[in-house]
Amino acid sequence: MSHLVSPSLLAADFGNLAKDVNVINESLADWIHCDIMDGVFVPNISFGFPVIEQVKKIARKPLDVHLMIIDPDRYLSRFHDAGADILTVQYEACNHLNRTAAEIRRLGMKAGVAVNPHTTVALLKNILPYIDMVLIMTVNPGFGGQSFIKESYNKISELRKMIDDGKYDVFIEVDGGIDTGNARKLIETGVDVLVAGNSIFSSKDPADTIKKLKNLT
Ligand code: DX5
Ligand code: ZN
Repeated sequence: MSHLVSPSLLAADFGNLAKDVNVINESLADWIHCDIMDGVFVPNISFGFPVIEQVKKIARKPLDVHLMIIDPDRYLSRFHDAGADILTVQYEACNHLNRTAAEIRRLGMKAGVAVNPHTTVALLKNILPYIDMVLIMTVNPGFGGQSFIKESYNKISELRKMIDDGKYDVFIEVDGGIDTGNARKLIETGVDVLVAGNSIFSSKDPADTIKKLKNLT
């Protein structure tokens, strides 16, 4: 399977979001990454249900929703109703991850679990049979435009081995500081999905940058 690209709307033009959603629609991108921040789990607030609902109306790609919020269980069905196709919760924000993942799947979404840079992927061993994706945060979550943390390569390799050894059907997604300079090495290390915000939307030609992130050879 060739890898997927999920442009992050956090770096899009919020004064004209429809324009950037249409750029994604017409590009080679696979998903649309939506970052939800509550100002508590992370020191920043992004956007919520009304924005996702509007994006869903015009999006022609699945919505890849990344919750950086405490107590996500309270809102799983609302994110489903707003239009999430893949719903990722932070490992550090969940006390009963099996229940949370099962509920996400019961609602009809793919279940993802994100780990912060300080969280070892070894902790995911017992949840891998019950989820569809692991999101390795390659920056400390909260802001776009930060530098990629190089120690992430070791985490990706370790997780790739855990998934392959267990023959699990689980994607590895990376998020934070991804650009055309590190994308190829990330894919070679075992990543399935690249999230990118600033490297796409701050570039001169976002559709072309998406194409470059897709066609890395
Ligand atoms: C960071 C978010 C990321 C962010 C990535 O907390 O989870 O999805 O949009 O932005 P870039 O690609 O600019 O680092
Ligand atoms: Zn994200």
